[in-house]
Amino acid sequence: MIIWNSNNTRKNRIHETLKKNRITLEQFGVKKGRILDWGCGKGLTTRELGKLVPESEVLGIDISQEQIDIANSRRKNKRVRFECVDGCDLENIAQGYFLITAMNNLMYGLAQINISVEEFQRVVGGLKGKLDDDGVLLLSQHYRVMIYERRVDRVTYVTNLVEIHRLEYEPMGVTLIDHFEEEYIKYWREIVSRA
Ligand SMILES: C[S@@+](CC[C@H](N)C(=O)[O-])C[C@H]1O[C@@H](n2cnc3c(N)ncnc32)[C@H](O)[C@@H]1O
Repeated sequence: MIIWNSNNTRKNRIHETLKKNRITLEQFGVKKGRILDWGCGKGLTTRELGKLVPESEVLGIDISQEQIDIANSRRKNKRVRFECVDGCDLENIAQGYFLITAMNNLMYGLAQINISVEEFQRVVGGLKGKLDDDGVLLLSQHYRVMIYERRVDRVTYVTNLVEIHRLEYEPMGVTLIDHFEEEYIKYWREIVSRA
């Protein structure tokens, strides 16, 4: 099932996303081991993970054969590989990852009503179950990041977009107010926590 039919990707996406949020992978206990990059597109995020987490084995999966062909043609690092599979079909996904990233796919799919809440939760719940006991699931939609840590079985981080934008706009004298941001944070936290 195609969750989000966009090929939009870019270099250094993980670095930029974490930097905007002022968080690091290390602070959530990310170490070396196996990583899954769900919905990897052309593999930019997958290759970046290979660089960011030394000695890791990174698998990028995508439902689009075209995207996987591009990813494979650009592959240089032997620790990084790609497979064309439907990530909603959880039988396609092995157990035992210490990090699973799903960047700019599952959250967009839900936000744009391409998938139902139930379907989103089924996939996210399945991905939680593929983590090691101290594994981490990172979901993102542009700069909005959610981190679930299996060790404590809860969502331990959700971006506050107003905070992020305030840092950029306040020096220009612009005051940002978004009365709904707290509601959004609560919404995402609950949906992922209950998955
Ligand atoms: C916007 S790209 C994200 C690429 C990369 N993760 C990034 O953030 O730069 C979204 C990707 O999700 C993939 N996708 C959508 N549904 C999927 C599914 N069911 N299983 C695996 N990949 C899927 C699409 O094919 C597309 O390549």
